[in-house]
Amino acid sequence: MKSLKMKRNGNDKKKKDPYCDLSMLLIVFSIVFFGFLSGLLWCTNFYNSQLMKLLVIKNGSYLFDSWVRPPVSPLVCIRPFNYTNTDHVLKGYTDKLIVKEVGPYCYRESTQKTQVQFYTNGTVSYRDNRTHQFVPELSKGKRDDKLVIPNIPYFVALAMVRNLGLFPQITLMSLLNRQEPFPVVKAHDSFFGYDNAIVTVVSAVSKIMNKPLPYEKCGLLLSRSGLSKDRILVWTGETNPELAGQVVNVNGVDTMTAWKARECNMVHGSDGSRFPPTKVGKKEPVSIFSRDSCRRLPLIFDTEGKFQKEIPSYKYTIDPDYFKSRTFNNSCYCTTTSECSYDGVFDISSCADGAPILISQPHFLNGDANLTESLEGINPDKDKHDFSMDIHPRYGLTMGMVSRIQLNVQVKKSDSNRFLALPDGLILPLIWMEISSEAMPDHMFSLIKHATFSVRYVELFLQWQSLILFTIASICFTRRTTAYIMQ
Ligand SMILES: *[C@@H]1O[C@H](CO)[C@@H](O)[C@H](O)[C@H]1NC(C)=O
Ligand SMILES: *[C@@H]1O[C@H](CO)[C@@H](O)[C@H](O)[C@H]1NC(C)=O
Ligand SMILES: *[C@@H]1O[C@H](CO)[C@@H](O)[C@H](O)[C@H]1NC(C)=O
Ligand SMILES: *[C@@H]1O[C@H](CO)[C@@H](O)[C@H](O)[C@H]1NC(C)=O
Ligand SMILES: *[C@@H]1O[C@H](CO)[C@@H](O)[C@H](O)[C@H]1NC(C)=O
Ligand SMILES: *[C@@H]1O[C@H](CO)[C@@H](O)[C@H](O)[C@H]1NC(C)=O
Repeated sequence: MKSLKMKRNGNDKKKKDPYCDLSMLLIVFSIVFFGFLSGLLWCTNFYNSQLMKLLVIKNGSYLFDSWVRPPVSPLVCIRPFNYTNTDHVLKGYTDKLIVKEVGPYCYRESTQKTQVQFYTNGTVSYRDNRTHQFVPELSKGKRDDKLVIPNIPYFVALAMVRNLGLFPQITLMSLLNRQEPFPVVKAHDSFFGYDNAIVTVVSAVSKIMNKPLPYEKCGLLLSRSGLSKDRILVWTGETNPELAGQVVNVNGVDTMTAWKARECNMVHGSDGSRFPPTKVGKKEPVSIFSRDSCRRLPLIFDTEGKFQKEIPSYKYTIDPDYFKSRTFNNSCYCTTTSECSYDGVFDISSCADGAPILISQPHFLNGDANLTESLEGINPDKDKHDFSMDIHPRYGLTMGMVSRIQLNVQVKKSDSNRFLALPDGLILPLIWMEISSEAMPDHMFSLIKHATFSVRYVELFLQWQSLILFTIASICFTRRTTAYIMQ
């Protein structure tokens, strides 16, 4: 080595530095290039935003097919409340209703986005088409188990007639009272539709009046199954990757009319499949736009965890404020129909054409004590009834979730109504529903794993490599210039 160096020095007197044996032009170029690159890689999230561009919703992109037809089919497990002493309560022998959680009745839900249409302003619209397949091995009970459940159309009608004058009210009530307030219905039919005398009559009348009802049957999950009537418009992320999956409008409407003020009526939030990565990265609150409740569902950071034991994830949970209608921030959700009487339930009647339906956490978890005063058989348990979502800290993608929501119907009647022996304001639990994404298919899981770990290593490698090359080029530059001056 030494002899080689001596030789070269002897041959060429000008080149004194064998380690920086490059032309000055190349050295200067290297300084500028690697300086710029390391600045980019160390000081901005350039690399990340390049990656985010791959996640844009675009026909033909790598993930497009799994956006149209998600490979994860969530399991929807329904636990109805069976009313076991309605005879006694309706006859006035006792005022405590006994409810018993039964099931679960589990269905595999597959979703396909149909009528997908792209627009030039960076948005795409679609309608969901969902199908449900009963999974007997995960269920406890059969599809045709007999349940005693509240007659929803009856309670809807009750709420509607209460504001009429005394005479029409008595007339309608005597008609209505031929209906059972608590009929016996088969489990599957109570979710996906059974014939109900009230619905049949109302439906026939609406047809004559040229305003057909969306459904001719009664069922709690009717709106969730089949082709959705809502057309959702979301950002593809092409204009701004941060916005991908954020809902722009529903059926062309970006401001609803259900609530009192604009901040409550605005359509915003994610479609649930992904969230703004910079917000998630900083553990800031995010939200999902929930069509069923006409509002955004706020989610807050809960804990850091590992998704399927390997991929780092941020667990988000439902913001307890969501169910506190009376707090100042939620006051615009309180209207003359949605009365906000209790904490722990969210009254969606303003969003459901006046039907007195309320959403809560299962078993009224975190709810007012007086919600359960007239009910026996309600046992809230945080571990069994909480809501959680696993979000990728870097890409904001939803990796897994367990969503748990209970549906309830409220008795709303006038004081003069003596036909029904249930108190005004009583909230009757109907079902609670758990939607859980099960284990991710292997190819998706390894894709996300690579995008998490390999990509991080590549990025670290590039960051350090560019920094080292920048440093070497700078040293060379210094040595060459000092050598030049010394000469
Ligand atoms: C995607 O592009 C292909 C080929 O251009 C076309 O046949 C298909 O209908 C497009 N899919 C959607 C959902 O637009
Ligand atoms: C629901 O309650 C009714 C009345 O007590 C009973 O006959 C029926 O078997 C119960 N259903 C289930 C699934 O437990
Ligand atoms: C983008 O175009 C769609 C369809 O024309 C329109 O409904 C939507 O309001 C537009 N979005 C924005 C943000 O202008
Ligand atoms: C919805 O899905 C079902 C079952 O896969 C299918 O038969 C039906 O044609 C689909 N509807 C639309 C509008 O795509
Ligand atoms: C209301 O919202 C604001 C900002 O969105 C927040 O700073 C404040 O803490 C909230 N107040 C309550 C009572 O939750
Ligand atoms: C529920 O109970 C609390 C305290 O016991 C009371 O202040 C409140 O008015 C009750 N709410 C209703 C709607 O009865």
